[in-house]
Amino acid sequence: MRTLLSTETIAQRVTELGKSVTNDTDDEPLTVIGVLTGSLIFLADLVRKIETPTQIGLIQASSYRGTATRPGELSVDFSLLPDITGRNVLLVDDILDTGQTLQRLVAHLQGQTPKTLKTAVLLWKKVRTEVEIQPDYTGFQIPDEFVVGYGLDYNDHYRHLPHIAVLDENDL
Ligand code: IMP
Ligand code: MG
Repeated sequence: MRTLLSTETIAQRVTELGKSVTNDTDDEPLTVIGVLTGSLIFLADLVRKIETPTQIGLIQASSYRGTATRPGELSVDFSLLPDITGRNVLLVDDILDTGQTLQRLVAHLQGQTPKTLKTAVLLWKKVRTEVEIQPDYTGFQIPDEFVVGYGLDYNDHYRHLPHIAVLDENDL
């Protein structure tokens, strides 16, 4: 597998994102909502770089089934979502691909009447995005390749890699 983003490169960018989030929140408390399972590691690193009182909540969403590398039907579970009424919310996902996931989650969260709602993605495959969503915070724009590591999986493998790698045909 070819390394696309090294551990050091990711760490440096996550620190920058944390600074931006901190600067933008004006010391108001924040609820950071991570999308399971892919955002887990990004979420854990990002919240430790945000210097604002922060609560953490989780949503589960999955659009990939097993060995597919193209999205299928989206299933979402909001049962772990805390009350976000009147809160400043930051929705955190691993990657913005077609945008179906983020669009659906943003629509649901808006319905809970947060005070503000922003989105952060570690990776953005902009050429594949089909929806009008622009993340408020993006770690890296990447080309249309299937990537794994730092939380991202292929059939639940490789999430634990500390860097982000491109999975090529031979690895499938
Ligand atoms: P979207 O709904 O098409 O934007 O898909 C977003 C979700 O698909 C992400 O939260 C990931 O779980 C998954 N995904 C999209 N691209 C990749 C990839 O290159 N590697 C691993 N997972 C991916
Ligand atoms: Mg995901």
